[in-house]
Amino acid sequence: MTQRPYVIDEMISAKAIAARIEALASEIAAEFSDTNKLVVVGLLRGSFVFIADLVRELHLPVEVDFLEVSSYGDAMESSREVRVLKDLRAAIEGRDVLVVEDIVDTGYTLSHVLRLLETRGPARLRTIALLDKPTRREVEIRADWTGFEIPDEFVVGYGIDYAQRNRNLPYIGKVRFPE
Ligand code: IMP
Repeated sequence: MTQRPYVIDEMISAKAIAARIEALASEIAAEFSDTNKLVVVGLLRGSFVFIADLVRELHLPVEVDFLEVSSYGDAMESSREVRVLKDLRAAIEGRDVLVVEDIVDTGYTLSHVLRLLETRGPARLRTIALLDKPTRREVEIRADWTGFEIPDEFVVGYGIDYAQRNRNLPYIGKVRFPE
């Protein structure tokens, strides 16, 4: 697919992200302080930077696992179909699970993942999303913890891509197409 030229405007700085993660991690640690059975599940690939920073602020015994589901391909719109591309290694029955998502947009991905993981009988199933675009929601769902609510903009950086690029930006930026 040929890309139209675009620019990226910084929306959330690396410093603001780090401060927010520190605060979220202490809330999460309080919720899970009574458990040594926590599995932190990152949804690939967009959450890989977020989960890396989050678990390092989470001073609890945790296991880390990953689940990959299909999302947008190279487009900017959700296909609304979600398929498991890479399943968890861990069995989560009877365990506490924290699902880590990069962005909740229409909500299809997170609600599908939660339905799937529920069938495996976890003890507690909680969710955290770095970003939330509430105005885009088509499925009624909200993460238990959210980093930042953002407007309906296409964003990249801090693990999040546009056509597989820009995941390595240390900040969150919005994609803009100059006229
Ligand atoms: P949902 O199923 O529509 O909620 O979409 C969730 C997934 O779409 C996220 O995990 C992202 O991978 C992707 N996504 C949603 N919004 C954006 C965006 O602004 N930039 C890049 N990816 C996005």
